[in-house]
Amino acid sequence: MFDKILLAVDGSDHALRAAKQAAELARSIKPSEIHVVVAYEPIPIYLGEPNMQIAITSRKGDAEKILETAITEVGEVPCNIHSGILEGNPAEAILEVANTSQCDLIVMGSRGLGRLAGLLLGSTSQKVVAHAPCPVLIVR
Ligand SMILES: Nc1ncnc2c1ncn2[C@@H]1O[C@H](COP(=O)(O)OP(=O)(O)OP(=O)(O)O)[C@@H](O)[C@H]1O
Ligand SMILES: [Mg+2]
Repeated sequence: MFDKILLAVDGSDHALRAAKQAAELARSIKPSEIHVVVAYEPIPIYLGEPNMQIAITSRKGDAEKILETAITEVGEVPCNIHSGILEGNPAEAILEVANTSQCDLIVMGSRGLGRLAGLLLGSTSQKVVAHAPCPVLIVR
């Protein structure tokens, strides 16, 4: 049923809880794959070179650390784990991967690194829930 699980992470505690839930789910339903992704916003072109390359390298480095931490949180699962760094608006990037790689389930946190306290759902989760091509598991 949920053969390909897309786990979206941003380095927040909520996303780590989502990673834990995705792993528990995978241990019980044994999907073929968990695809862990993190997106970073495009670097504005007006920065010019070499600043643009420096900014891209730094964001990719941050993204790699976020993925590593999330994969550690997932731990042992009876399926393949793939990871990917996406460039673009996070919700749009998550939706594009969900569509192109035909994911059966998206797992993500209800909130992320945003600072607006009191929001029940962050803007990334809201947009993904509204447009996802498959079920979405929102983890609190
Ligand atoms: N850049 C990202 N890459 C991958 N997943 C993300 C990214 N940003 C958020 N997510 C996923 O979406 C979940 C909810 O984050 P969201 O951005 O919606 O909330 P927020 O940061 O609190 O609010 P906002 O971004 O609207 O200020 C996160 O727990 C994570 O699972
Ligand atoms: Mg956010």
